[in-house]
Amino acid sequence: MIAYIRSLDPRRLIKCSVLGVALTLTLASLAGRAQEPRQERHRQEGQDKKNQAAISLGARLFQDERFSTPKGDLPASCSHCHMFDESGQGIRAHADFLNRSWVSYRAQDPRREESRNSPTLFDVGKMARLHFDGEFGSLEELVKGTLSGRPMGWLPGEQQDAFNQIQRVILADKAPDGSYRDQFKQAYGVNVESAGRDALMDWVAKAIADFTRTLNAKRTTPYDKFIEGNGLAVEPQSGEDVNSYSKRLLDGIAALETSGKLKLPAGFDQPALAGLKLFFSYEGPSHVGNCAVCHAPPLFTDFSFHNTGVSQSEYDAVHGEGGFAALEIPKASKAARPAPQFRDAPSKRRLGVADLGHWNFANLENSPLRRVNETNDQFLDRMIGTFKTPTLRNLAFTNPYMHNGAFASLEDALAELARLAQLSRGGLIRQGDPELANIRISEEDIAPLAAFLNTLNQDLKQK
Ligand code: HEC
Ligand code: HEC
Repeated sequence: MIAYIRSLDPRRLIKCSVLGVALTLTLASLAGRAQEPRQERHRQEGQDKKNQAAISLGARLFQDERFSTPKGDLPASCSHCHMFDESGQGIRAHADFLNRSWVSYRAQDPRREESRNSPTLFDVGKMARLHFDGEFGSLEELVKGTLSGRPMGWLPGEQQDAFNQIQRVILADKAPDGSYRDQFKQAYGVNVESAGRDALMDWVAKAIADFTRTLNAKRTTPYDKFIEGNGLAVEPQSGEDVNSYSKRLLDGIAALETSGKLKLPAGFDQPALAGLKLFFSYEGPSHVGNCAVCHAPPLFTDFSFHNTGVSQSEYDAVHGEGGFAALEIPKASKAARPAPQFRDAPSKRRLGVADLGHWNFANLENSPLRRVNETNDQFLDRMIGTFKTPTLRNLAFTNPYMHNGAFASLEDALAELARLAQLSRGGLIRQGDPELANIRISEEDIAPLAAFLNTLNQDLKQK
């Protein structure tokens, strides 16, 4: 596995995506240029150059292995776990195909595995909170935390060492096609020499964040073509709740079917259509997906946090049924959060270790999830086992699934969801999301749902 990680050359591969982004920017800025006065055109050209410089700088920092600790046994860069390449194993959307990403061996923390599965980076620029548990409130914060954290092989308490090393690398950098010194100057007009270490870290964070903000899923999938080709609504109107949107969508499709006018584009067949109907249906005794309420279009996420029972089922698989229900979790006034004990994978050797997700970071004072008249304890209990709803675009390139990467295929993940929903109806999921119980799917629904989800894959090779 180590050999496999080392054998990748993410630099070459990232370059393709950077070129793609740069080209899009250029084309967009060329359009409608003829009428602009010359001065405005020059200003715009200068800005385009700067944007491109910022993106290439960010992309280079994203794949620089020299920022990882020399004390570990694995070099690391963002692109080691967030790959965008086509290897023997297939192409990926900035994910790594590992259940849980690998980190450097350190004697003080010999675990090889990260605590969670690496998600796609597509559309992260639109997310108010990042990581499955909502640890970070901005990409810049995330980059600084990551560059000095376990993903890059650093241990808690080594942040200063990490930042010093990054500064050294940047100041000493010489590259044939422009040193970091030149690149920072071009992109942001920053002199890295005089900036000072902490300000430099802010610029590094900004450059990598700016790059990741250019990684967006394309809205050219068979699903998007189906919606567009039939003149259907792309997303809920502002103020419209998701169920009303779903009803509008399903009614629109039914009317087109009745009049024989419904068009199915390439890659969107009858099973996919059946899957779409399941996905957006939200009431009835059976064959009800109730998926859109959490996975709302166009990105198929509500950016919020929900408990779908995945943590409980992993915990119980290790410690036996009922284990998670009996797990002692401190009340709001006693809980020291984030808690390492409650942000990790359960294991036989470590009784009481569980992943409670957003419970670790839910803000008692100002969380948007907080309900009126709820006590601190009630609110925090409700956050047990909640994770950020992932986007469902491009799932073909990001397996395995769920925060723990426990499900190799979509079919496995959906079968588990059906089982968890059933348990939830029986009151057997600790703090299960109320909408989980409203998922009423059975075995025969899984194939069409998977067919539908597969219409959300874009052609990653298409720039
Ligand atoms: C060792 C593997 C590894 C490395 C190296 C790594 N990441 Fe990640 N990344 C992950 C994992 C695993 C997660 C999920 C973490 C979680 O939810 O707790 C993640 C999550 C993220 C997210 C949040 C996505 C979301 O939907 O909330 C972003 C953004 C991100 N990484 C960017 C980066 C950047 C930028 C770098 C380099 C500075 C980087 N990562 C380095 C493995 C890695
Ligand atoms: C109550 C909100 C909610 C509902 C309803 C819901 N999901 Fe999810 N879904 C989530 C959350 C939260 C996760 C992440 C859970 C985790 O990793 O522990 C998730 C994960 C997934 C994943 C894995 C994605 C990945 O990248 O790992 C798939 C696939 C999925 N859901 C499909 C569906 C389908 C299909 C339906 C309807 C049958 C559905 N979901 C209903 C909230 C929901």
